[in-house]
Amino acid sequence: MDDDVTPAPWWRDAVIYQLYLQSFADGNADGIGDIAGLRSRIGYLSDLGVDAVWITPWFRSPLRDAGYDVSDYRAIHPRYGSVDEGRELIDECHAAGIKVILDIVPNHTSSDHPWFVDALHSPPGSAERARYHFRAGREGGQLPPNDWLSVFGGPAWTRVDDASGHPGEWYLHLFDASQPDLNWDSGDVRSEFEDILRFWFDLGVDGFRIDVATALVKAPGLPDLGYPDGAFLADLTLADHPHRDRDEVHDIYRSWRKLADSYDPPRMFAAEAWLDDPDRLSRYVRPDELHTTLNLHYLKSAWTADGMRRAIDASITATSAVGAPTTWALSNHDVERVVTRYGRADTRRRPGVSGPELGLVDEALGRRRARAAALLTLALPGSVYLYQGDELGLADAHVPEHARQDPIWIRSGGRRWGRDGARVPLPWTPEGSSFGFGDDGAWLPQPSGWGTHAVSAQAGDDSSFLELYRRALRLRRSHPALGGTGEVHWCEAPRDDVLVFTRDPGFGCVVNFGSTPAPIALDGRVVLSSDDGAAEGEVPAHGAVWLDLHPRSRV
Ligand code: BGC
Repeated sequence: MDDDVTPAPWWRDAVIYQLYLQSFADGNADGIGDIAGLRSRIGYLSDLGVDAVWITPWFRSPLRDAGYDVSDYRAIHPRYGSVDEGRELIDECHAAGIKVILDIVPNHTSSDHPWFVDALHSPPGSAERARYHFRAGREGGQLPPNDWLSVFGGPAWTRVDDASGHPGEWYLHLFDASQPDLNWDSGDVRSEFEDILRFWFDLGVDGFRIDVATALVKAPGLPDLGYPDGAFLADLTLADHPHRDRDEVHDIYRSWRKLADSYDPPRMFAAEAWLDDPDRLSRYVRPDELHTTLNLHYLKSAWTADGMRRAIDASITATSAVGAPTTWALSNHDVERVVTRYGRADTRRRPGVSGPELGLVDEALGRRRARAAALLTLALPGSVYLYQGDELGLADAHVPEHARQDPIWIRSGGRRWGRDGARVPLPWTPEGSSFGFGDDGAWLPQPSGWGTHAVSAQAGDDSSFLELYRRALRLRRSHPALGGTGEVHWCEAPRDDVLVFTRDPGFGCVVNFGSTPAPIALDGRVVLSSDDGAAEGEVPAHGAVWLDLHPRSRV
């Protein structure tokens, strides 16, 4: 072995566990997950076999959008713990071989952030207002400055009073009114964020997921967008979008990359970028920019052989063109859980449509497909994001209306259900006031059957979701073909609803999207199956298998 070979950076093929802190584990019996709870469960993460955790925002915040509304980027919200506890957590994760990624929110602050409070108390045209987008309204001030809409519903502008108490300027917020957009043309904004990154990197943080990474730069003059009739905002693709994917945003990330590279070991970034065009997406991961992007294209695809294969090919082609690894995710805290989506007749992610409009859910079917999807995803080259609770096979929980907290539910006047169903606290034990999540209830109500999916109920049961994930993650680490950034070789499939591929050396994966068993079209020994009851030589319906290939069928 050549000692001079530099190992590939960890983030190129890491399995990253998305940890939704307030719903992971509650250490102080207030019904809200926190750092103490997380520290008590590091062993669980090690046993699961993940390489890193991405912790959703833990900063000080009024929590109008679950922490994506930050009022102090250098402080941890007291309900989660302190910066000292954060440092201890990072050290303990590192001691367990787990990297820690935080979630930076650079597009907007909270309206409670001291900068915004100062801006409100400062006159139009002041330096304080120039850190945000304040503008006079149209029609004598009565109408918003342009036609932009908030992602959460309603106009993207809110009017504030001037010093004499009369209606004055408007400010821009692409999300909730409590999340004013920062003006990235301001030097103050640029230097402040680099300083915030340094603060956490100095504390030992290994990287950042960048929230709404494509939205920071707005078109000069903030021109109207001109919405086509019936277009859903989040799904809109325009050639020259005034607030998404502007070319100038890349300068910001080139500068961040230099900062990350100035550390030893270098730190990493993962961009949240909801872009449908894989080529545009790959521009964020050019060699002097960010390291990875979350692959939302894969997450949105329908569970069909054709849909998944196209998503896989397009993703790999786009990222390999710039030498970046691909990432894969089946769900996250902003979308329906994969068991629920895959339990529907239409398995695409359909933005803007929610609740009953989406149709009935067959959870048993969703679980079978989600198990197969886990094997497909973990067999691909590159890095995988695993949303907490997906390893337990959780479905979206029905959250009663009075308990819903998502600003989407509130701003849409109850028309859109929002994301609370995917954020319900984890069940750790089959019994108890919050199924072992903590000692005193849970901030979002858990459904009565939640305990059947508990960690302790699944641990040691070979047929459980948790053990499937544990085995898959162990194999992914030990099999020479898995992980890494190698190639996927597609093979001839026995049917249109089956995907067959191999990876070198000697690994095969067969995924059956159909409702009847399919022959395993490769010559090899099954080392893992999404359904242990499958007959010899067959891939179960809605199932997948991993194989060690006999030499003659290796590609
Ligand atoms: C986060 C959301 C959040 C939004 C606004 C997103 O993309 O993932 O949870 O509501 O940004 O910050």
